[in-house]
Amino acid sequence: MQIRTETAQDYIQVFELNVKAFGNREDESRLIERIRASEEFVPELSIVAEQDGAVIGHILLSRAKVLDGNHSQEVIVLAPIAVDPQMQRQGIGAALIREGTERSRQLGYEIILLIGHPGYYPQFGFTPARAYGLALTQFTVPDEVFQVYGLQEGALEKVKGELIYPAAFF
Ligand SMILES: CC(C)(COP(=O)(O)OP(=O)(O)OC[C@H]1O[C@@H](n2cnc3c(N)ncnc32)[C@H](O)[C@@H]1OP(=O)(O)O)[C@@H](O)C(=O)NCCC(=O)NCCS
Repeated sequence: MQIRTETAQDYIQVFELNVKAFGNREDESRLIERIRASEEFVPELSIVAEQDGAVIGHILLSRAKVLDGNHSQEVIVLAPIAVDPQMQRQGIGAALIREGTERSRQLGYEIILLIGHPGYYPQFGFTPARAYGLALTQFTVPDEVFQVYGLQEGALEKVKGELIYPAAFF
């Protein structure tokens, strides 16, 4: 299996993979298309897992803002992630998350935020975000679902405010 940056040649396979992984719906595939077309897209944070020429996993991380009064901080949001249903529970999702977080760290971002399953992300170091003074009002989700991961020393103590998802998410 190879983990690498997505290219335009992967777009169709990534679309179909997300349809399959999310129970035969196109919502996440369309979200990916909107993010790719937006200012918040970071090409090296759209990452695929490939085996024998087939895309079997994909993760997308992109830019968003945390607003605190007049201060705006650029952060990363993770969404979506998908692994081929026939290839799940083999560590592919974990490998994509590790690669995505490492690349985000190297690009200098402070934190990654996500809305996701509380049974999955904590093993990678994600933790409830509201406990760190981060707010979310665009979506109504339980505390344990809104999660944050610190990429730099002291980042979780430093970045406070309300996460604003960009227009591509709506
Ligand atoms: C979520 C998803 C990307 C995980 O990918 P994956 O390659 O299966 O995950 P991994 O093999 O790296 O999982 C590592 C660990 O996470 C946990 N885990 C994985 N899938 C899980 C699930 N469906 N429910 C609960 N725990 C799960 C397990 O502890 C697993 O380790 P184990 O197999 O040794 O028990 C994949 O299940 C998927 O595509 N799901 C459908 C789309 C989706 O829901 N995306 C996330 C939206 S929040």
